[in-house]
Amino acid sequence: MMGVIKEKLNFILQKHHGKQDGLITILLEIQKEFGYLPKKAMLEVAKFLGKNPVDIWGVATFYNQFRFTPLGKNHIKVCLGTACHLAGGPSVLEALERELNIKVGETSPDGQFSLERVACIGCCMLAPVMVIKDKIYPKMSPFKVEESLIPFRPKDQKE
Ligand code: FES
Repeated sequence: MMGVIKEKLNFILQKHHGKQDGLITILLEIQKEFGYLPKKAMLEVAKFLGKNPVDIWGVATFYNQFRFTPLGKNHIKVCLGTACHLAGGPSVLEALERELNIKVGETSPDGQFSLERVACIGCCMLAPVMVIKDKIYPKMSPFKVEESLIPFRPKDQKE
């Protein structure tokens, strides 16, 4: 594991040394630090807690807030809170999955895009919304997806 990653991970683990903190708390902190749960970090957590790595993996995959791949250069969040859900959020998410050829929770192989579903982000009047790099796209529809992605495409894919 690269030095910096190991150092950051040790820092997180040491904070929990001798405490009864739950595994979830530790995993959330690691994800906050790295943007996802690196496999090597999960192995270190297993060692630290004296647990089987398979159990750590089982817990992490049970909760859908954990990611196992690094975020893409352009991280896309689709709101599926109640208002956005009712206004067609799921079909926007589906259109993005098709357009990017990845599933929610994944990152495109070229590292350009990652896709996440989120709960209400507090602008229900604009439902359904998606967010790319902190910019809110209001009143989304599956038909607007392709066009919205153009500015984020690498130059050779814009034509
Ligand atoms: S439900 Fe999507 S912004 Fe509130």
